[in-house]
Amino acid sequence: MFESVSIGGRGTASVAVIGQFKGEDLDPRSAAIDPDAYAEFAAGQNDATGEVGSVLSVFPADGYERVFIVGLGDREGFKPGALRNVAGALARTLARAMIDDVELRLHDAVVSLNDPPSKSDCGRALGEGLGLASWNYDELRGEATDVPERWPLTVRCEDEAFEDGLKTGVAIAAGSNLCRTLSQTPPNIATPEWIAEQCKKLARETRLKCSVISGDKLLDEDLTGIFTVGQASENEPCFVRLEYRPTRIARSAKPFVLVGKTMTYDSGGLSIKVGGSMRGMKRDKDGGCAVIGAMHTIATVIKPDIPVVALLSCAENSISDEAYRPDDVITFRNGVTVEVTNTDAEGRLVMADALCWACEKENPAAIIDMATLTGGVVVALGKVFAGLWCDDDKLRAAVEEAGQATGERVWRLPHDPAYREMMRSPIADIVNSAPVREAHPIQGAAFLSYFCEEGIPWAHVDIAGVHAIEKDQGPLIPGPTGFGARLAAEAIARFAAAD
Ligand code: BES
Ligand code: ZN
Ligand code: ZN
Repeated sequence: MFESVSIGGRGTASVAVIGQFKGEDLDPRSAAIDPDAYAEFAAGQNDATGEVGSVLSVFPADGYERVFIVGLGDREGFKPGALRNVAGALARTLARAMIDDVELRLHDAVVSLNDPPSKSDCGRALGEGLGLASWNYDELRGEATDVPERWPLTVRCEDEAFEDGLKTGVAIAAGSNLCRTLSQTPPNIATPEWIAEQCKKLARETRLKCSVISGDKLLDEDLTGIFTVGQASENEPCFVRLEYRPTRIARSAKPFVLVGKTMTYDSGGLSIKVGGSMRGMKRDKDGGCAVIGAMHTIATVIKPDIPVVALLSCAENSISDEAYRPDDVITFRNGVTVEVTNTDAEGRLVMADALCWACEKENPAAIIDMATLTGGVVVALGKVFAGLWCDDDKLRAAVEEAGQATGERVWRLPHDPAYREMMRSPIADIVNSAPVREAHPIQGAAFLSYFCEEGIPWAHVDIAGVHAIEKDQGPLIPGPTGFGARLAAEAIARFAAAD
């Protein structure tokens, strides 16, 4: 909708935005914006519902040239997160009206609440929404398309706490938008090597450390899953490690580790995807993209006082005479042997390497992995919740609370020895896909559990349902949602603060 969003700066805006709760008149502070009471009059009309998503345009006689009244939803139970969707509706209206400078006065309505949420949380949610709404991907439009003109939006706010929140929110959205841009990039451009280049660029820009292990060198480190899955593609697989270190920190401080499935394309391999199910598999890298987005937010906004390490397993699941086969057996770096029964269950093989590495090499305080792992989670939870597997109370609380706060919600599913049993192989330790289709997303989590050391807090998040949408949704447009970038960054902030 916009080219970018910036907060504050010199000058004044001729357009103001005020809020209205559902089924109510304007609160006195918001009404005071227009002494001639045009705004109040408009807010009393039938189409001024106050529902989230409603935006009304008013032309006062004096003062502001124009005032927008945005619906804030129910006063009862109001949560800052509603403002993300409010921002979406507002941004669409502003873009249509070609307005590039507004003063936000939603704090007036917020402070009228009985037990008002913090203004900075409200500003942050609104800033996130505006930032998310400003994402677009025009890079690949060619000569045959008229790309709509986009311009920067300036947002002002006289309330300091609200304005600080807005700035934070816009900065956090930048991480999600980075994730979305990477996700949207097609597989002939976004190869594993390209992903590694993007990580190096991020590291240069935000002072992270970055190292990459590619091709045959993966075998020197026993990263056999990534190597095997990627061996059919002329685009070499790789393993990327990013590290954030706070300035003052004990050498022995344990890092929080993020792990991302980064399949730059999933054709299914020899167990080829059929009937249109291959389309969209450029987005099989979205777990890794979310991790990269989260690292952006961690390095630029959250800056937690614990180290954070990101591990990306990057490969293209392709087909050639060198492709791995159903019936192959792979030995992993922790000694577990896996019989391949389906080359389309490749995500768990590349994730296994990164989880082993995390446990063996990083001495982690906790691990979160994010992956577009199974179609089954889409069937189970649709596009509403990501699947969450986590048996550690502290880590699970951090992830679930982060889900509520960011709107990137998770729903817990079980680990159980019975599911681990389902993965047993007749000739190796385990299979990568059990012969029965029952409980597929749980099978995926059970498989991964063979590569996580007991006692290390670990959360697995299956984002296959929530990583992309087909219709407008709040501040998001069809395409990648960036799911996971805000969730992981916020979960780390909460986990670090809970110590
Ligand atoms: N990348 C897919 C999962 C997926 C499905 C992601 C839909 C996004 C949208 C994964 O690698 C896969 O193919 N999983 C199979 C596993 C099966 C063959 C054991 C699945 O879930 O069907
Ligand atoms: Zn697959
Ligand atoms: Zn996949």
